[in-house]
Amino acid sequence: MSRFALLFLLSAQQLFAQQLFTNRCAGCHGEDARGTAKGPGLAMNPRVAEQSAEQLRAYLERGNAGAGMPSFADLPADDLVSLAKYLRRINADTIVGPEAATEPTRKISWGAPQPGDWLTYNGNYSANRYSPLKQIGTLNVSLLKLKWVFPIAYFGLEVTPLAANGVLYVTGPNQVFALDALTGEALWHYSRPASTGMVGDARLGTNRGVAILRDRVFFVTDNAHLLALDRASGKLLWETPMASGEQQHYGGTVAPLVVNETVVAGVAGADEGIRGFVAAFRPDTGALVWRHWTVPRRGEPGIETWQGKEPIAGGGSTWLTGSYDPSSDTLYWPTGNPWPDGDDRDRPGDNLYTNCVLALNAKTGDLKWHYQFTPHDLKDRDATEPNVLVDTVYKGKPSRLLLHADRNGFFYVLDRTNGELLLAKPFLRRVDWAKSIGPDGRPVVADPRGCPSDAANWDATAFSPVTRLYYFMALEECVGGPTGYPDQTGQRFLRAVNIETGEIVWEVPQPGPARAKTWSGVLATAGDLIFYGQPNGGFTAADQRNGKTLWQFPTNVRMKASPMTFSFGGNQYIAVAAGPNILCFGL
Ligand code: HEC
Repeated sequence: MSRFALLFLLSAQQLFAQQLFTNRCAGCHGEDARGTAKGPGLAMNPRVAEQSAEQLRAYLERGNAGAGMPSFADLPADDLVSLAKYLRRINADTIVGPEAATEPTRKISWGAPQPGDWLTYNGNYSANRYSPLKQIGTLNVSLLKLKWVFPIAYFGLEVTPLAANGVLYVTGPNQVFALDALTGEALWHYSRPASTGMVGDARLGTNRGVAILRDRVFFVTDNAHLLALDRASGKLLWETPMASGEQQHYGGTVAPLVVNETVVAGVAGADEGIRGFVAAFRPDTGALVWRHWTVPRRGEPGIETWQGKEPIAGGGSTWLTGSYDPSSDTLYWPTGNPWPDGDDRDRPGDNLYTNCVLALNAKTGDLKWHYQFTPHDLKDRDATEPNVLVDTVYKGKPSRLLLHADRNGFFYVLDRTNGELLLAKPFLRRVDWAKSIGPDGRPVVADPRGCPSDAANWDATAFSPVTRLYYFMALEECVGGPTGYPDQTGQRFLRAVNIETGEIVWEVPQPGPARAKTWSGVLATAGDLIFYGQPNGGFTAADQRNGKTLWQFPTNVRMKASPMTFSFGGNQYIAVAAGPNILCFGL
């Protein structure tokens, strides 16, 4: 066939297709294919332009009867192909927008960590939520805009996203999503239904996030199973019950932590009666490497602090991600309350190792030292608040510190090499349960059931090496204490504390209901900013020097998660979970 003949044939086919269009389609889509009241324009239509001829053919065959587009399955197959090609021709010059061009599953890559990544629950091993990123600063934060929203069908997310190579990893109850960091588009999704028979926070579906290592993503399920997912696809690689063989109410809510080529995680459920532990697992198989129990059995160190019955389910949960010091290979893991919470008849004594920070050898899980914030607790005073590791000159001496604002109302500074107490000072106006913390590190207890209730909680905190202030959310409240305490309504404050003296340098009273269970912690950045969520749902950026609000976004939901920041493609972003949404902000 000559070239001329070929051209002639093609144009004959084109004429045929145009005729077919006039006969069968133009009544609704218009003679010029620019649309009528009965059908949308098909020329210069990006939704049409982005489809292949085969996709268009299949669409014509199928139709969309519900939306008014008939099926053309009655036409000969060749005619449908001609129409599909015709639709492509009339869109040959159509500009397809960037969102339409995005591949639904772009390849997820992982190489060397990038400086702007946020690779662990707290963004670093020290648990200090102080980011070196400073593109967003006090002068331009007012320009911060919402870039995207990713909804998860669950109200009350507590996750901190991880960010690596332009991908965010977020969790809901028994769900993990990999999101495109620039668009919020889901790249993959892993989920399973809620487990039956769950109690406590695990039953509510609480989950605080994932850990990543090379080609793997790790997270815990509501029933305390540790899972490894394929980082590229979200497919399940292995699953291991963290508490195998134990018939107790173990729950899983923690974001695991990757340390020394192991995945370290803890368990929830002390309020329902468990024997807590921290454990490390192999990333390739899920096999147990070590397990450290937080409550001793007969014959073990610490059992002398349980002077009643042997504590089969003594509590000491481990549901908040610990911190890690690579220079000494030490994990600092916080533990929760003894069980039963308010009933101490069977447990006279200090009840080790509840309400502690445990300094563990990260290779073996062996205890190096411990510090107990509230011995013999009667008021659910979990010490599951962040343990922030800071190296700084302290009272004239270069020091390796551990900073901790406890639920019992005291702010602590410890020498983290040996657990020695350097400072303990109330950070609330009203602390009645103990008069002070003695030089030996033990509280001078006045009334074990005294105030406060819930002075601080698991929400993130930050120390700025520039201002040398420690930032956290404090709750002035005393509920359920002995009668005679006049004000039980409570008030939340964002507070900045001088770590050498324990003095409150500034504070910002928080709008909204204090009793609302809002646990949006603090992110500080080298841009001299603090980001945090207010009890009324206002996501806020403040000046580190004085707490002054510089920017705010009304999420209009109760915030239960702490913000993070990352950079990708040369731009800094701030992401936070609020209610059922992951929100991402940028300039
Ligand atoms: C009875 C009216 C009617 C006829 C006849 C009709 N269409 Fe449609 N068509 C529609 C409507 C209405 C829609 C919008 C459907 C929707 O909203 O999903 C549509 C949608 C489409 C779309 C998708 C457009 C988009 O923006 O996503 C294509 C492609 C299309 N029609 C092609 C054709 C072709 C080719 C023919 C002839 C073979 C044809 N239609 C005949 C009513 C019609």
